[in-house]
Amino acid sequence: MLLLPFTGLLLSGLAYASSGNVSASLTQTGLLTTSSGTLQVPNGASCACAKLSRLIPGTVILPGSSNYTTQTVDTYWDIRANLSPACVVVPHSVTEVSQALKIISACGSQFAVRGGGHMNYPGSNNIDAGVLIAMSNLNSVNVKNDSVEVGPGLNWYQVYSALEPYGRVCIGGRMKTIGVPGLTLIGGFHYFNNKYGYAMDNVINYELVLGNGTQISVTKDSHADLFWALKGGANNFGIVTKFELKTYAMPKVSTTIQVFNETHIPQYLSAICEAAKLDVKHPIAAGMIATVSYNATTKVAQGSLLGVQEGASKPPSQFSNFTKIPATMRINNVTSMENWAKTLDSPKQMMRVQFSHRTMKPDAKVLYTIYQAWKAAVDKIADVQGLYPTFVTNVISPSSVRVAKTNGVGNVWGLEEEPLIIWQFSTGWALAQDDIRMEAWSRQLTEHLHGINKELGISSEFVYMGDAGEWQDPYLGFPTENVARLRKIRSAYDPAGVFSTLSWGGFKLGL
Ligand SMILES: Cc1cc2nc3c(=O)[nH]c(=O)nc-3n(C[C@H](O)[C@H](O)[C@H](O)COP(=O)(O)OP(=O)(O)OC[C@H]3O[C@@H](n4cnc5c(N)ncnc54)[C@H](O)[C@@H]3O)c2cc1C
Ligand SMILES: *[C@@H]1O[C@H](CO)[C@@H](O)[C@H](O)[C@H]1NC(C)=O
Ligand SMILES: *[C@@H]1O[C@H](CO)[C@@H](O)[C@H](O)[C@H]1NC(C)=O
Ligand SMILES: *[C@@H]1O[C@H](CO)[C@@H](O)[C@H](O)[C@H]1NC(C)=O
Ligand SMILES: *[C@@H]1O[C@H](CO)[C@@H](O)[C@H](O)[C@H]1NC(C)=O
Ligand SMILES: *[C@@H]1O[C@H](CO)[C@@H](O)[C@H](O)[C@H]1NC(C)=O
Ligand SMILES: *[C@@H]1O[C@H](CO)[C@@H](O)[C@H](O)[C@H]1NC(C)=O
Ligand SMILES: *[C@@H]1O[C@H](CO)[C@@H](O)[C@H](O)[C@H]1NC(C)=O
Ligand SMILES: *[C@@H]1O[C@H](CO)[C@@H](O)[C@H](O)[C@H]1NC(C)=O
Repeated sequence: MLLLPFTGLLLSGLAYASSGNVSASLTQTGLLTTSSGTLQVPNGASCACAKLSRLIPGTVILPGSSNYTTQTVDTYWDIRANLSPACVVVPHSVTEVSQALKIISACGSQFAVRGGGHMNYPGSNNIDAGVLIAMSNLNSVNVKNDSVEVGPGLNWYQVYSALEPYGRVCIGGRMKTIGVPGLTLIGGFHYFNNKYGYAMDNVINYELVLGNGTQISVTKDSHADLFWALKGGANNFGIVTKFELKTYAMPKVSTTIQVFNETHIPQYLSAICEAAKLDVKHPIAAGMIATVSYNATTKVAQGSLLGVQEGASKPPSQFSNFTKIPATMRINNVTSMENWAKTLDSPKQMMRVQFSHRTMKPDAKVLYTIYQAWKAAVDKIADVQGLYPTFVTNVISPSSVRVAKTNGVGNVWGLEEEPLIIWQFSTGWALAQDDIRMEAWSRQLTEHLHGINKELGISSEFVYMGDAGEWQDPYLGFPTENVARLRKIRSAYDPAGVFSTLSWGGFKLGL
């Protein structure tokens, strides 16, 4: 979860430095020519693209068109994720998703699925020389009394905007253009986790298309095993064509933006640890985006808090520990969720990015040493062009875990009601030639510091798919019995292995 350091309030004011350029074209010989080389389109993908074009007219986009660039470049957050599919299918209905999956698996073609395109690593949501299924056209939203039905083509700002006239909110992403489906299938950190649990805990119905094209509704009462598995089990089971999410009355939110100078970073990190530990029976819904940015050229580090709390009390009481710290900027406001989300853009195609993180019990002193080690390590790569390093923290509070523990369903994470802190390095850079160095830097630093935490006895093996590097395995951090159960459920619903052997991207359970 990257927060871009901001000047003033408008993150959307950042320069949009697009350098992604996949202007591919498909030749009749089955070769796909891209700006970075020539790909050989396998028979399976040629078969699928030809059949999709013939049998579901108006949904297939081939290389060379401007729609192709829209679907394979413009919709991706990380430039590294831009790839060159042999064709893109953009279904308009559940029936078309089902048809597409049947054709793709009958042809034995490799494929990828994309919602909002925010999962950052290459191949998680895109594919070279295979079929990309893009969710863009499944973008309907239907507000009900205390829930909302949303299509996987939507981003969170569109959902918050639809709920705004009714004075209601749902548990989704904290920034504007993150996609609905990816976030909901992997967990979902939002400002109000402490009271309502994670996005996954708030889904009451999934419309799902299985690998064999069968459409099913998955609820607490229908396919209960799969209902549990979809709460954190990612893209191992099928394609979700609609989510129904709980909503909550919350016409107003109280917000705070605070910026701290390097001198006060120890207190800032300590307040984050206290927020993780907070454990009351009836929590006030409140949460934050908490980051530190560091510029290796100017040597300036600054902590940034973006806090949101339910209701209209100003300043928001749950951030009092931050408010005590001298700040270089502090803006409190009372507004609506839509209005708040409007400013929090995370522009696509801005840079190449490596995520990596680990989890620990809250310990302010150790968290500060991790921050210092990170800063020192950033200095070692100060020569990297376009370097954009951010230290990110996310809290898992006991009450956020309690929601799943007490709702009769649970989730895949299987966490205990204890406070945890996720510490993440989100590192951006400009040039492809630095990819290997940046991956090594991020992985080595993270694992070294996690090793120290292990020795200290304060580490947790929990890994969040939304913050992870491609080399991290979130399933190792879930209870082993949960992983065994997920595998059993997968063999029941996808016996042919469509989502394991024809689609390898994303965080897969493995063979
Ligand atoms: C700037 C930024 C901010 C972020 N902030 C947050 C945050 O506040 N909270 C949080 O929890 N996470 C956050 N994340 C992480 C984010 O939740 C994940 O990247 C998530 O995958 C995004 O969802 P998406 O639909 O955009 O993903 P995509 O990249 O489109 O998809 C992610 C994965 O889900 C699969 N998938 C997509 N659609 C479907 C579908 N319909 N059915 C089955 N599988 C599907 C894809 O194949 C892929 O493997 C952030 C990420 C970024 C880059
Ligand atoms: C994209 O690549 C093509 C072909 O390599 C080139 O002609 C074009 O100028 C590039 N566009 C951008 C925006 O870089
Ligand atoms: C291609 O883009 C145009 C313009 O945005 C749109 O009208 C058309 O439906 C798109 N075609 C497909 C197959 O998505
Ligand atoms: C939804 O709200 C409306 C207006 O308050 C009410 O008339 C209706 O009965 C409600 N429907 C359900 C299913 O609760
Ligand atoms: C603030 O910090 C104190 C410890 O200094 C802690 O007891 C309290 O719970 C914290 N409050 C909040 C709202 O985080
Ligand atoms: C920021 O840091 C400088 C020196 O490091 C200090 O003089 C100044 O008072 C600090 N400002 C705030 C608001 O903390
Ligand atoms: C404060 O909230 C008001 C009301 O929603 C909004 O118009 C204004 O833009 C907000 N100001 C800031 C600085 O966020
Ligand atoms: C760091 O500071 C330099 C010099 O002011 C600036 O050019 C660069 O854009 C800054 N980097 C980031 C990530 O803000
Ligand atoms: C599709 O798969 C599901 C789950 O394995 C199974 O119940 C269903 O019978 C299959 N449908 C067809 C048409 O094969």
